[in-house]
Amino acid sequence: MNNSFLHVNDLTKNEFDQIMNSSKIIKDKFKNNEKFHPLFNKTMAMIFAKPSARTRISFETGFFRLGGHALFLGPNDIGIGKRESVADIARVLSRFNDIIMARLFDHKHILELAKFASIPVINGLTDFNHPCQIIADIFTVTEHKENIENLKISYVGDGNNIVHSWLELAMITPINFTIICPETFKPDMDLFNKVKDTGLSNVEIAHDPFDGIKNSDVVYTDVWASMGQKEEAEHRKKAFKDFQVNSNLMSHANSDAIFMHCLPAERGVEVTDSVCDSNNSVIFDQAENRMHAQNAIVLKLMGVNL
Ligand code: CP
Ligand code: NVA
Repeated sequence: MNNSFLHVNDLTKNEFDQIMNSSKIIKDKFKNNEKFHPLFNKTMAMIFAKPSARTRISFETGFFRLGGHALFLGPNDIGIGKRESVADIARVLSRFNDIIMARLFDHKHILELAKFASIPVINGLTDFNHPCQIIADIFTVTEHKENIENLKISYVGDGNNIVHSWLELAMITPINFTIICPETFKPDMDLFNKVKDTGLSNVEIAHDPFDGIKNSDVVYTDVWASMGQKEEAEHRKKAFKDFQVNSNLMSHANSDAIFMHCLPAERGVEVTDSVCDSNNSVIFDQAENRMHAQNAIVLKLMGVNL
């Protein structure tokens, strides 16, 4: 890993395995209420150009519980790329803080932030990807299933930032990943083809939800209109109407398939209550694991060995 975490495949396989182990160690420490303050006196600047519940809460709570302090810098505070250039913000924060976490629109801006910062930068979602989410998600899968490489993981819906980070994961560890989406909402095909060329994982694109979901062990979905696309919501509802994850669609997956969603969910749109609230749903485990997995990433970037 460079000194920043901007894409899942910034990690080597070895670093990824370490992050999975550390997530478990940190989760256990927290569950046992152990005093664990390796980040005493450290500060994290958290930049949010977009709204957030889980990302803000998990980073702020997690950093505090590791002994440090996290600062929330919302859209109206520093105006990244508007009031001040990305490069200057990177240089200013580097004089005050020990690490930066940023949720931005344009992926180029997170690359620029990392380029000009002299402290580690963590990507808390861009229009292109959401690496912290997928690290937490695959950790969640390991808590519920064995032999990850033998599972069929299916994503139903928009080929968006969540899918891109699953594809990034497929470049560092073997997974079997099927993207079930309308023809016109495929993921970035350069990235998809790169994953194919890497040859480590089996990745497929399917367009028929009932056929595509067969034999799935994991079924994942996300909103049809992401942040920044909400004005397209009505058009997208029409395009995705056959891609709702409901009990009928889930009945075509394996009977013990787990259901995953990064949240926030638009219940009744891309997924029904019956699926979100079923015994097979692990959506709140995913939310909790954001904190444990991110803490593992933060500690790694800050040179704290467990
Ligand atoms: N899953 C996720 O990143 O949630 P928030 O947008 O609420 O942070
Ligand atoms: N694809 C969603 C993910 C939210 C966590 C979005 O970008 O809005």
